[in-house]
Amino acid sequence: MTLRRFEGKVAVVLGGGADGPSRERGKIPMGNGRAIAMRLASEGARVVVVDRRLDLAKLTVDNLQGEAHAVEADLANIEDCTRIVESSLDKYGRVDVVIANAAVSSSMSAVQQTVEDWEFSNDVNVRGHWLVAQKALPQMIERGAGSFVFVGSTAGQLSSGRSLAYEATKAAQLAVMRHIAVRFGSKGIRSNAVVLGVIDSALVRREFGDSEEALAARSEIGPMRRQGRPEEVAGAAAFLASDDASYVNGHSLIVDGGVSAQWPSPRKG
Ligand SMILES: NC(=O)c1ccc[n+]([C@@H]2O[C@H](COP(=O)([O-])OP(=O)(O)OC[C@H]3O[C@@H](n4cnc5c(N)ncnc54)[C@H](O)[C@@H]3O)[C@@H](O)[C@H]2O)c1
Repeated sequence: MTLRRFEGKVAVVLGGGADGPSRERGKIPMGNGRAIAMRLASEGARVVVVDRRLDLAKLTVDNLQGEAHAVEADLANIEDCTRIVESSLDKYGRVDVVIANAAVSSSMSAVQQTVEDWEFSNDVNVRGHWLVAQKALPQMIERGAGSFVFVGSTAGQLSSGRSLAYEATKAAQLAVMRHIAVRFGSKGIRSNAVVLGVIDSALVRREFGDSEEALAARSEIGPMRRQGRPEEVAGAAAFLASDDASYVNGHSLIVDGGVSAQWPSPRKG
């Protein structure tokens, strides 16, 4: 049976492009944002695909099944953030679902961390998502319905010691998610997060390598002995965004193949 849980609904996907090596020759690069946009469209949503690079957003729009609109916006830019919801209202007249997926990540310890990178990480990973929510909420409250899914990371709950700014902002992102859930739950708004482990996205392939050795090393991290796929993230995000999760609010759904459940961690081959 084909699910059509988003028929008549409009979803805004922040960071809905993807850039980096593909998993399969001839296929487009896949990231969490792109996979979520494609999944929501396949279930009937009209999707506003937002990315700082218009070409990446357009590639998503061209490859999904359904109606979609590409918007160029940089979440680090305050004016761009306030424009995103206006674009959706102009085009489709509403916003029912916001997927807060865009993020930046650096690799600096507490000693190496720069103030510039700390602020930039906060601008994109936290402030940008809040600003979009601030614009989306009033029309959701008026209709008495709306759903947010924040794409979080286990780095917001567990430290690998790799990136202070990423870990801190991913934790703060979950606080924004919970605030919306608690403050606006009585208005029919739900807000949840998928908290991801190692996902084989185009971005991860680009930044951490896509050689056989690199892929095998990442697969060894968790008990399932493989990385997650963006399409699996999309399944979890679509559930949380949909009415199937109608009494799920303020929840962080861990999508990490069991990495955070194991001890000692990580397990070595
Ligand atoms: N891939 C993983 O292993 C993993 C693990 C944990 C969490 N996550 C989270 O998943 C989300 C997506 O990560 P991904 O690896 O799938 O990347 P992705 O492939 O979804 O790419 C992110 C997209 O966001 C866009 N983007 C980046 N900065 C932006 C900005 N300032 N404004 C607008 N768009 C911007 C990029 O151009 C890119 O198209 C992030 O929130 C990340 O923290 C990923």
